[in-house]
Parts: sequence; C-alpha cells; structure tokens
Amino acid sequence: MSTLVLGIESSCDETAAAVVRDGREILSSVVHSQASIHATYGGVVPEIAGRSHLAQILPVIDAALAQAGTSLDRIGGIAVTTRPGLIGSLLVGLSAAKALAWPRGIPLVGVHHIEAHVYAATMERPVLAYPALALVVSGGHTALYRALSPLELELLGTTRDDAAGEAFDKVAFLLGLGYPGGPAVSKLAEHGNPRALKLPAYRSRGEAPSFSFSGLKTAVLYHVRGQNAREPLPAPEAIPDRADVAASFEQAVVDALTDECLRTARREGLQRILVAGGVACNRRLRQELSRRAAAEGLEAIFPSPAYCTDNAAMIAGLGYQSLSAGRIDELALDASPR
Ligand code: KG4
Ligand code: ZN
Repeated sequence: MSTLVLGIESSCDETAAAVVRDGREILSSVVHSQASIHATYGGVVPEIAGRSHLAQILPVIDAALAQAGTSLDRIGGIAVTTRPGLIGSLLVGLSAAKALAWPRGIPLVGVHHIEAHVYAATMERPVLAYPALALVVSGGHTALYRALSPLELELLGTTRDDAAGEAFDKVAFLLGLGYPGGPAVSKLAEHGNPRALKLPAYRSRGEAPSFSFSGLKTAVLYHVRGQNAREPLPAPEAIPDRADVAASFEQAVVDALTDECLRTARREGLQRILVAGGVACNRRLRQELSRRAAAEGLEAIFPSPAYCTDNAAMIAGLGYQSLSAGRIDELALDASPR
C-alpha cells in the first residue's frame, strides 16, 4: 500500500504545496512566488509576505491536489513547515494544515525547513548511505552539517555573518540588478572574467568549518562606489566592468563554499556531499563542486534546480519519513521562527 502525503510550505516568500508518494515520487509541486511583490523593496517584507500567503494558500493546495489527480480523502498524511522562518508566514501554512487534517482525521506532522532542504537532495537519488556531509546554502542559511539520517542533522559550522544567498542579493542590489539577486548575478557573470578582480577570500582557521561573506560584499561596494563611502551608488551602466565584478564575486563565493566543503568532508571522513538551498541552483557551484569532489573520489549530490529553492515536495517527502518513523503531531503543534 502506498501513502500520499500533502506537503505545505510557507516559511518565507513562497507559498507551496505538493503531493508525494512514499516520500520520493513527486506527483505535483506547485509554488507561488512572491518575488515580484517584494522586488520593489529589495527584500522580503514580513507583513506583506503573511498577507500574500493568506490569499494564496488554499488555491495553491487545491492546485497541488488537482495536478496530482487526487483529493483530500486519499491523502494519508499532511506535512507542514513549522520552523525556522517568518512567524507570520509559518502560521498561515500551519493553520491551513491543521484545518484540513483535524476534521478528516489525517495524521499531521511538522517539518524542519532546513532538514527538508537537505532531504531534497536525496529524493531523486533513492538509495543513499548515511552519514553524509550536508551543505545548506540559501538566502537565510549557510551551514555544514553531518547528516546521520534524513531526520538527524548535526551542525558542524555556519557563516559568521551573511548567508551566501544574502550576499548574492546584496551584490545584485549594488550592481543595479533585481531581487532575488542570485539568478541575476549569475546570468551577468556569464559575460565576465571570473579572475578579473582580486577580492578578499575568507578561510576558516580553526577546526570547525565556518564561512564569511560580508568582506566580499564590502569589497564589491568599494569597487562600485569608489573609496568615498558618502558617494551615492552610480547608475548600473556607469559601473566599471560590471560583468567582471559579477563573475569575480560569484567565483569567490563558489571557491569559498567548495574549499570549506571539501576540507570538512576530508576531515570528517564523509564520502557524499548533499547540497541544498536556493544557491545550489548556481551553475558554477554545481560544476566546480561536482568536479573537484570527483577528483578526490567524493560525490556531490544536487537536487534539480526546482527542488533547490523553496518548495513543498521536500516537505511532503521528509514528512513521510517522519510519519514512517512513528511521529504524529498533536493539534497543539506550534510554529517557531528559530
Ligand atoms: O532556499 P531559498 O529559495 O530560500 C531560503 O530559504 O532562503 O533560497 C533563496 C536564495 C536567494 O538569496 C537567491 O538569490 C539565491 O537563493 N539563489 C541563487 C541562485 N538562485 C537562487 N544564488 C546564486 N545563484 C543562483 N542561480
Ligand atoms: Zn529555504
């Protein structure tokens, strides 16, 4: 007997629902992105995010059920992101999940957003031996974990300041590109020389892995605006070697992530690297980390781009694993920003 799980995700600026069979087979995955709404402000505005989730949540869930050719009476479990994220956004998905699950007696389970990102890397690659190294690189997180199972992540190290995706978004703003910045910087970088600019490279000294991206962002700021911090930002066309800046910045981020990942994999004796989060869409990161890992006899595993960024298929998938492990949450299930 197979089990269909409905996944619901609303932790940040994507309203998403998906139906997944037995934790891996994705029958539907619907994502409504609020990016164009937040673009005017250059970042996510929590109040606006909450209101948009409220308007979209039920239509998105209906679309996910319809695209999977199923209905609520054939759903065997509902999984919903409960942490971390914007509290007002999380509560919209959680309230919808409870309202659908409780009257029908459908088992409900809360899912950790970061664990779900890591699980996404294993959904399209069924049999996988643990432990593995997990690199989560998104707009809010940049961290390395030892993954002992889909439901057990041990934090090894994290960023000391900005997340990698946040650095992409800030550099995109400096270069006059839109929000979200990662895809825009990456596209411009295709026309630039990745070795044109000397940018500061942070490397962790201690045993524990760590990252830092704020120095890189500041270096780009000075390049764009000159040394006088009071000068306003120039018009995008007036920025010298704009594509070279984008390419050099992207290369510096990719080098930092790749170096730290491989150093940690070696030190921890881990053969497989699961890469997850929005920045895992980045083409240069996918190529370089895959190539350099293979050269050391290691394997880097990336989800398809659609399952790197926020989606509900990863929530339904990990929710199935939780339910299979015997976990069912009470109606009192709560959301938490951390
Ligand atoms: O995982 P995600 O969708 O949301 C969070 O949980 O944060 O990640 C979004 C982040 C944004 O900062 C975005 O700029 C970045 O992922 N991103 C990229 C690319 N696509 C998305 N960064 C670099 N290259 C890309 N191709
Ligand atoms: Zn995310």
